Amino acid sequence: MLESVEVGAVIPAAGSGKRMNVSVNKIMLPLLGRSVLEHTLEVFLASDLIKILVLVVKTDEKDGVYHQIRGIDNKYGKKIVFVDGGAERQESVVNGLEYLRRWTGWKVRKRLVVIHDAARPLLTKELLRQSLMAGLDYGAVGIGVPLKDTIKQVDSEGIVVATPDRSKFWGIKTPQIFDLDLLLECYQKVNESGLLFTDDCGVVEYCGHPVKLIPGSYENLKITTPEDLILAEAILRRRENADRPGI
Ligand code: CTP
Ligand code: MG
Repeated sequence: MLESVEVGAVIPAAGSGKRMNVSVNKIMLPLLGRSVLEHTLEVFLASDLIKILVLVVKTDEKDGVYHQIRGIDNKYGKKIVFVDGGAERQESVVNGLEYLRRWTGWKVRKRLVVIHDAARPLLTKELLRQSLMAGLDYGAVGIGVPLKDTIKQVDSEGIVVATPDRSKFWGIKTPQIFDLDLLLECYQKVNESGLLFTDDCGVVEYCGHPVKLIPGSYENLKITTPEDLILAEAILRRRENADRPGI
């Protein structure tokens, strides 16, 4: 079914990782011998469904990132294109989308884009495939998980205002998948409005287009604070051992 469409990936990697509290961008940190970014890229490089990979990086980190991942794309016979990031995630994503809009390598009219945070190195090939299939069906798809913690709404003094029904809320992750033309159109409207969004589904919701959420995995965590690295390493180690039974 995916033969009639082509898929481009935008991987925003141009943040600063302030909450990680280290001197380098957190996507360069090691996880079982490879960087967070390398783990993330490999899932997309290994997927036959992805036609082009756009990696959005800070201008002054381009050389460092290039050297760290050098050769990784050749291994899979696929090219990674570098695009400059912006001050906010939204700006970084728009720069990646603009590259895809102008890219001359598209062979079919129906174009999908999958956006995935560089800081989520635990995405599996299978979840990526499922997400893309849903993207084809719905045109705007996010991956989420039911919340585990009870949610409290608080005022500016930290006093609880309400306890909403948790079953109605999902935590949202990436990948998020869209019809490329739809997302470009929605980002144009949002940019004219001056609003800032922390996820791309929000941009499509703002334009009044329905967004489908499909259940993902709790393992697909975002490396944000130091303990996320410990969890991620434990999950990767378990996966490696599962691939090598008896060890
Ligand atoms: N990102 C980006 N451009 C920005 C900000 C963020 O491309 N101006 C990317 C990050 O590199 C990351 C993803 O968006 O892969 C999700 O953002 P987040 O986890 O918030 O990363 P940082 O912004 O780097 O971290 P922090 O908010 O702690 O500074
Ligand atoms: Mg951030």
